[in-house]
This record gives sequence, structure tokens and C-alpha cells, in this order.
Amino acid sequence: MLKLQTRFTDSYATKEGVSLLLERGNACFSEVMEDQTKDIGNKGWITVPKANDSELSALLQKARAVREDADILVLVGVGGSNQAARAVIKALGEQKKPRIVYGGNTLSAVSIKKMLDELDGKSVYIDVVAKNFETLEPGSHFRVLRKEMEKRYSKEEMAKRVIVTGTRGSRLEEIAKENGYTFLSFPEDIGGRYSAFSPVALFPLAVAGLDVEAYLSGAREQKEALLTAGAENDAVMYAAYRNYLYRRGYSVEVLTQFEPQLDYFMKWWVQLFGESEGKEYGGIYPSCAGYSEDLHSLGQYMQSGRRNLIETFLSVKEIPASVVIPEDRAFRDGFDYLEGMDFRKVNKAAEEATIKAHSEGGVPCFVVEIDRIDEYHFGALFYFFMVACAVSGKMLGINPFDQEGVEEYKRSMFRLLGKK
Ligand code: PA5
Repeated sequence: MLKLQTRFTDSYATKEGVSLLLERGNACFSEVMEDQTKDIGNKGWITVPKANDSELSALLQKARAVREDADILVLVGVGGSNQAARAVIKALGEQKKPRIVYGGNTLSAVSIKKMLDELDGKSVYIDVVAKNFETLEPGSHFRVLRKEMEKRYSKEEMAKRVIVTGTRGSRLEEIAKENGYTFLSFPEDIGGRYSAFSPVALFPLAVAGLDVEAYLSGAREQKEALLTAGAENDAVMYAAYRNYLYRRGYSVEVLTQFEPQLDYFMKWWVQLFGESEGKEYGGIYPSCAGYSEDLHSLGQYMQSGRRNLIETFLSVKEIPASVVIPEDRAFRDGFDYLEGMDFRKVNKAAEEATIKAHSEGGVPCFVVEIDRIDEYHFGALFYFFMVACAVSGKMLGINPFDQEGVEEYKRSMFRLLGKK
């Protein structure tokens, strides 16, 4: 399923140094996975819903009804409220009907107008995801979309077409009750960026026609694998090595991949680590690059820039497409050496060559390997990185579940916009 390779980081660490940190990592792992008294209010994500969960069944039933009637579902949310679903849908669900359109990731009038124009003449449903329902982006998008939809749909139709995902007891839940909208719960004990296995992500995935059960079983099996691996499970190993490297001045980590299907997964990852670890003026700065394209830009810095970089490669074993480079000798374009070669092989060669060049050039490289890009492996990836991030945050001595830092710009913006 998912495997971490540390062989390209080993030469940057001493055995004794890493094993000391592994001890600490394991203590943090137990705290994250087992201790139900500490952080209890933040750890709802540790438990992955079961197939017979009644809330899950109701959600899947509503998603089926939406699929039958909708051309478009607008997923309204920002940050953790839509990143996980978007990562999977962008990778696997783009060709399916209904189309999932994203609202709430921007305040740009140009982008919002474009999104609204897409809805013209279509059967539209919306899912508004907002944990505290004070965030400006989803709140303002909800108002604009609601008003647009009310021009076209009766009160009864609106009740069918508006789904809201919020916390119990919130104003959003009251709005749902007042208007007959479907209400899905955003569990109080799950933060946005840890919400990949809650209704926040599960509902849009189901509407997009993706295999929710495979996704959840990837997470469950990843959890089991971590719990049964003993003292050196991959999440602890990754957290311990990162911590070791961070203490030695490696302050930037770049997540990379050679399959553009993973582009939006990288955005999710950047948020997870950035918002969880960037505290008390410390933490590894998370960044990302999509290869081979970015080898022609950031590749220069990775090879020869400041040596404070860690690189983590997402590596995919099975590629479900084949394109063979044809023979064309008469053309004399200088590419005859590629004749008969599949792009699968060319891309793998580029990946192997890059890991070798960068790791030998002063960049400790992790490889996180998955068999293929599908729902099951997304489940495993999300679970793996959420655990690793929580463990890593605890090893840094910070709270990986809060995000007080993002409140500062909000306070300043609300002042400018005259919010009382
Ligand atoms: O991870 C987090 O908690 C944040 O990124 C939130 O998801 C994001 O700020 C959106 O918050 P809300 O759902 O309350 O609008």
C-alpha cells in the first residue's frame, strides 16, 4: 500500500541521533493515537468511520439523489474545508457528472464571476462547508450563490439543492433548520485540515461518484499498519528524521511528484504542515513542486541552491496509461534513442535520476511510495500524513491542531471591512 523509504536520507543522519528521536517520536505517536484524555477535543479524525455508520449511510443516500439530478455541485469552503475533497476529485473525478466546481477559495471578483457564469442553464446544487461560519470566503460565496439560486428555484427546490456542513449548534445549523436545507455535521473535535474522513470530504467525494468505501478502507488499513508496525512505523520514522534534519538547519521541505494528478494533493499537504507546524517562529517551511515541469525552474535551486532543503518524493508504482514514442528516423530530430520507449519508462527514469542527483547533491530525500493513484491510496496518504504531522508537531513541542496565526490578518481585514 504505502511505504516510506529513508535510504536517501540515511547518509545525512547518525544512527544514534535518529534512534534517540525515534524514542521521542514513539512517545508522541502513543499520545496522538491512544491517549484519549489529552487533546481529546482535536482527535476525532483518528477514528475512521465504518461502512455501517448511520451518518455515513444518510450522507451517501443524499449524495446519490444529488448525482441523479445535478449538472454541477458547487463545493463552497476554504482551507481545510475543501482541500482533501478537491485533491481526490481533481485526480480521479474530473470526467464524471456532476461537475464539481469550487467556490470560496478566492476573493477575486474575476474568478467568482467566472464561477457564476459556469452555472448558467445548469442544474445546480451547493454544499457550503464552514466549521465556525465566520470565515469571509465561504460566508460571502454562500450569500451570492443563494441569491442567484433563489432567482431560479422555489423554496422547496432550494431546500433540496442546498446542503450545509457545519458544527452542531452553529448559526449554519439554525439556517439549515429554518430553510429545510440538508445539514451535515462538521465534528467539533476535527479541525479543517484533519477533516479528510468526515462529512466535509466524504459528501463531495460521493457526489463526484468516487468510491468512498475504498477511500475509507485505505485509511483504516493505513491506521492498522501504523499501529501494528511496532517501534519503527513509517509515520514516526518520517517525523523523527524530519525533526533530526530540522535541528541541523534543514528548514524547508519540498513535496514533489511526477504525476500531475497529485498536484492538488500537494496543496493539501502544504496546508496540513504549514498550518500545523508554523508556530512560535519555527517549523519546517512546506513547499511543493510538480516534476518534470518544475525541474526546469526550481530544479536549479534544488540542485545548487542553499543546502537547507529536504525533498519528499511521492512515487507511484503502477501507471494505468501507455504512450509509446514512435519510430521516425527520416525526420532526423535527434530523438531516435527514445524509439519504442513508453513514457511510463521515461518518466520513471526522470524520477530515479532526480532522486539520485538531488540526494547526492546535498538534499536529503524521502520517498513515499504508493502502488497506484486511486481512492484507496488517497485514504492511506491522508491518514499517513495526518498522523505524521501530528507526531511531528508534538516533537516540536507545539500544538499541531490550532492555527492562531491565521487570525491576525483576519482581524485586520475585518477592521478594514467594518465588521462589528
Ligand atoms: O485547518 C483549518 O482549521 C483551517 O484551514 C480551516 O479549515 C479554514 O480556515 C476554514 O475554516 P472554516 O471551515 O471555519 O470556514
